[in-house]
Formats: sequence, structure tokens, C-alpha cells
Amino acid sequence: MSSRRKFVKSTVVGGIGLTFLSTAKSYSQIIGSNDRINVAVMGTNSRGHALTKVFMAGDNVLITHICDVDSKVVDKTVTMAHETQGSKPKGEKDIRKVLETKDLDLLVIAAPDHWHAPAAIMALQAGKNVYVEKPCGQNAREGELIVEAQKKYGKVVQMGNQQRSGIFTAAALKDIAEGLIGNTYHAKCWYSNKRESIGHGKTAAIPAELDYELWQGPAPREDYRDNVIHYNWHWFKNWGTGEICNNGTHAIDVARWLLDVEYPTKVTSAGGRYHVDDDWEFPDTQTAAFEFGDKKSIAWECLSRNGMPIYDQMTGTLIQGTKGNMLVNTNGYRLYDKSGKQIKELLSDSTLDTADLVGVNKLSYNHATNTLNAIRKGEQLNSPIIEGHKSVLLCHLGNIAQQVGRTLQIDHTNGHIIDDDQASALWGREYAKGWEPVV
Ligand SMILES: NC(=O)c1ccc[n+]([C@@H]2O[C@H](COP(=O)([O-])OP(=O)(O)OC[C@H]3O[C@@H](n4cnc5c(N)ncnc54)[C@H](O)[C@@H]3O)[C@@H](O)[C@H]2O)c1
Repeated sequence: MSSRRKFVKSTVVGGIGLTFLSTAKSYSQIIGSNDRINVAVMGTNSRGHALTKVFMAGDNVLITHICDVDSKVVDKTVTMAHETQGSKPKGEKDIRKVLETKDLDLLVIAAPDHWHAPAAIMALQAGKNVYVEKPCGQNAREGELIVEAQKKYGKVVQMGNQQRSGIFTAAALKDIAEGLIGNTYHAKCWYSNKRESIGHGKTAAIPAELDYELWQGPAPREDYRDNVIHYNWHWFKNWGTGEICNNGTHAIDVARWLLDVEYPTKVTSAGGRYHVDDDWEFPDTQTAAFEFGDKKSIAWECLSRNGMPIYDQMTGTLIQGTKGNMLVNTNGYRLYDKSGKQIKELLSDSTLDTADLVGVNKLSYNHATNTLNAIRKGEQLNSPIIEGHKSVLLCHLGNIAQQVGRTLQIDHTNGHIIDDDQASALWGREYAKGWEPVV
């Protein structure tokens, strides 16, 4: 049974799942409130700081460790967590030391992309559950490794594709299953932004607060440069994965889920770095297209440096069907007939206000709650890691097609590239000696 059909059966047709309807309060009545989950968060400059708030808002959770290689970042998040939960998490820079903690239950990974799979595998080997930010690997092979490791160690692994935990996305799935837009055959997804130039960096002294050796971790060593840390590593191939894996993952994951497709048969990409002359190593303008064997396709459009909205949205997914269209974003969805007339709208607030914590993103809160319930009582994950991997793989294949400049033929049973040695050589990566992830 396909993943979409399975999800519809277990979650939507049988009544929208508990995850979508319960609040933190109602959970404390349903589950034993003594089974506290101890959480460490790795990488807390930005997303990890937000995820610390998100997990603290979960029922009966204690943030026990804040792990970051930047001591200023550690201080900032430890202070925030201490003020919020009343107990001070331990600050630590080395994830290996954090993973030695016996009663740690969950590692939340929001370090840069080159750390995701290696840290997740180390955590699984230490017997911990994992919430890993997207993308689940810096390259295609790492996605496979994390799936293998989850199977081997049997712990919960969820990726940060939080739209899968949106009540409206589940309702969208139900409308599609009931045929409201007919047979679905194509999804168009996009992301627009007005990202500024990062200029041309130069070799510089490593800031005193940063352990650059640990920041690099599994990645082959490069001199410290002044325009990479924090955040801009996203645009360098040694650490990052470009806009398609960064923001594309979300919209492409929704497209793949709602279209009910898995591995593609063919991948193409057109585009380039057109806007400014800076150090970006990925395109700022890209159209990647994915064909699936069963008369279905997905097209991803990236406008990293052109904030022109598409269908009035900076990001989204348009699902096309034989009877109509569905426009989805992080706030809900609209249905249109074939001539573009709106026939239904379901929108929701994107933030959740709680008494002690304001502004926690509701999708992330639902996703975290689902992860906690999977750990506590075996609740089905809204996005098992294999689903995260399949969506992220499309993004990596889009990057590979862009880099080699030709169409990739893909084995639809496993997503591997067929008969193209140059493209296949980009499936994995080189590692710094001693840091190779081994399952
Ligand atoms: N799901 C979402 O909606 C969402 C949103 C934003 C970011 N993200 C993901 O979160 C990740 C982090 O993004 P960001 O914007 O916060 O990046 P960032 O560069 O601002 O922060 C990364 C942090 O990780 C730390 N770090 C690096 N190596 C480390 C190590 N070995 N141990 C501990 N900490 C380490 C850095 O010092 C920094 O504080 C990315 O992979 C990104 O794709 C997901």
C-alpha cells in the first residue's frame, strides 16, 4: 500500500488523528505524566533555538542539554530555556559527550546540514531517539544511511518536514482521496525570497567563541572564512545543500505526499546563479522537474533572489487534478475548479499561544508532539524517516542534474541514477578522516 493511502487510512478516514486535535493539556490527562522525556538540542543559533521552545512546550519534557560549538549561542539558549522551564540545561560543545548521558531520550539536531546524518547515526548508536532537521542528509547516500540506521537500532527518527503534521494538510489529503479535484497528475511548487549577496569572503581569524574544528566535524577541512558562519554555509557545497534542499524540501515533500508518488523515473534542472556575483555555489534561480512512471510529475521553481510571489504566495504547492486544483501553503489550502473559480478554503493560524510561551509555531509543535508520542507510546510517525528521505532525495537529484547539466534517468525502485558515472559520483561525499558515518 502506498504511503499516502496508508496515512489516509490510519489518520484521516478513521477520524483525524489524536495528534491534530490534542493540546499539551489534554495529553497530560491521556498519558502518564511521570514519563518525562529528556531532550538535548544540537545547534541552537536559530532553528535549534526555536525548536528548544517548541519541545519545551510539549508535555512533560525537560531540555537537559544545549549543545553548540559557539559558546555565545550556548549561553543565549541555556538562559532562555532556564527562564522558561525553571531548570538549567547543561551547556556543552561536543555532541559525543552529550550522547554519553544515560537518561537522555531524544536528540534534536538543528546543526548545519553536513552534521545531520552523522549526528543522527551517532545518536542512534548511543540508543537515543532523533528529531533531525531537513534535509536528512547532506547528500543522497546519507539519506540511505539514516534509514538503514533507524532500521538497525529501532528508535524513533523524525525529520523536520513539519507540514506533515498540519491539521489542514491532513484535511487536504482527505479531499484529494475523496476525488474533489479528480485524479491528481502534476504539482508545481516554489519558493521566492529577496536574499542579499553574501559577497566574496576572505580567510580570517576564527572567532574566540567558535570551535571551528567541531563545527566542520564530518566535512573535509577548509580555512575559516568570514562569510560562512552562521547561516551562509547553506550556499556552499562542503556544508550546505542549496535552496532546493533548504526551502524546496518542504514544498516538494507536500507535492510528493499529496500526489502519492515515491521515487522518480527522470529528473532535469535548468537555472543558474544569475543575480549577483558572490560566493554562492548553488543556483539562485532554478526549475527542477521530476517525472514519475505513472503519468505524474512535479516541478520546483526557485526564486531565491526575486521575491515575486506565485499565486500570491512566497512558497507553496499547487496540485493539479482532472477536475480542479488545490493550492497549499503553511497556513492551509484552497480548492479551485478547472477554470480557476475558488470552491473551498481551509485556513488556520500558524502560531500557537500558550500561557508561558508565546509564538511557538503550531506545525512544529504538532510535529514535535507526534515525535514525543511516538517515543512514549508508539504512535505512528506523521513522517517516518523513509518518507523524509524520499523527498530530500528529489532535492539532491535536482542539484545533481543541475551540476552535470543533463537529464538523469532514475531507477524508480530505489531512486538511484542509471548509467551516468559522473552524476552517480555525486551520490555521496568525502569525509574528514575519522568522521565517516558507519551504520
Ligand atoms: N524545518 C524548518 O522549518 C527549518 C527552518 C529553519 C532551519 N531549518 C534547518 O535547521 C538547520 C539549522 O539552520 P539554522 O538556520 O539555524 O543555521 P545556523 O547556522 O543559524 O545555526 C546552526 C547552529 O549549529 C551550530 N553547530 C555547528 N556545528 C555544530 C556541532 N558540531 N555541534 C553543535 N552545534 C553545532 C552552529 O554553531 C550554529 O549555532 C538547517 O539544517 C536548516 O535546514 C529547518
